[in-house]
Amino acid sequence: MKKHVNVWDYAGHIMERIGGGILLTTKADDKVNTMTIGWGTIGVQWGKPIFIAFVRESRYTKQLLEANGEFTVNVPMGEADKNIISVCGTVSGRDADKLAQLGLTTEEGETVSVPAIRQLPLTLECKVIYKQAQEPSAIFPEYDDRFYAKGTRNEGDYHIAYYGEITAAYIAE
Ligand SMILES: Cc1cc2nc3c(=O)[nH]c(=O)nc-3n(C[C@H](O)[C@H](O)[C@H](O)COP(=O)(O)O)c2cc1C
Repeated sequence: MKKHVNVWDYAGHIMERIGGGILLTTKADDKVNTMTIGWGTIGVQWGKPIFIAFVRESRYTKQLLEANGEFTVNVPMGEADKNIISVCGTVSGRDADKLAQLGLTTEEGETVSVPAIRQLPLTLECKVIYKQAQEPSAIFPEYDDRFYAKGTRNEGDYHIAYYGEITAAYIAE
């Protein structure tokens, strides 16, 4: 069962919760993977409701998104399961099947080929309509040092902004 919602009624909720970690799920070649995201933007472009996710070049999620430009976003409604957020934010889908490891249950997407994760019931289905790799020289130096510093594991690991048109929004019940 699911309750369809007006995404704007939940935009504030999504932005309030994203700092604590929400899930971005992808699927390509029958492989489903989910990762924690702490950054994102919700708004309007080209007259469409858009969720923008910022995914580093090194993520397995990036590989799947490049193969299939669709994703789902899942957001907790009540208390978040910290273990889900932590495992999905530290383990790569290259090394493990996070959904199986955590016993996550999926619900088939309505408008995309990617499923939703029922444990975080507020779901956005998104289709990538634009993407843009960050231009390193355009990043404010303080943030370049902080997030992509030379000599750290994040050196050169810039984010790509994936603009997903929100094609469905609902709460799994
Ligand atoms: C709270 C939290 C927020 C995160 N936010 C992002 C994010 O917005 N973008 C990103 O690329 N990685 C983010 N990460 C890191 C990824 O979730 C992590 O590297 C994950 O293991 C990548 O999985 P994958 O290789 O299966 O794609 C975050 C991690 C945590 C714990």
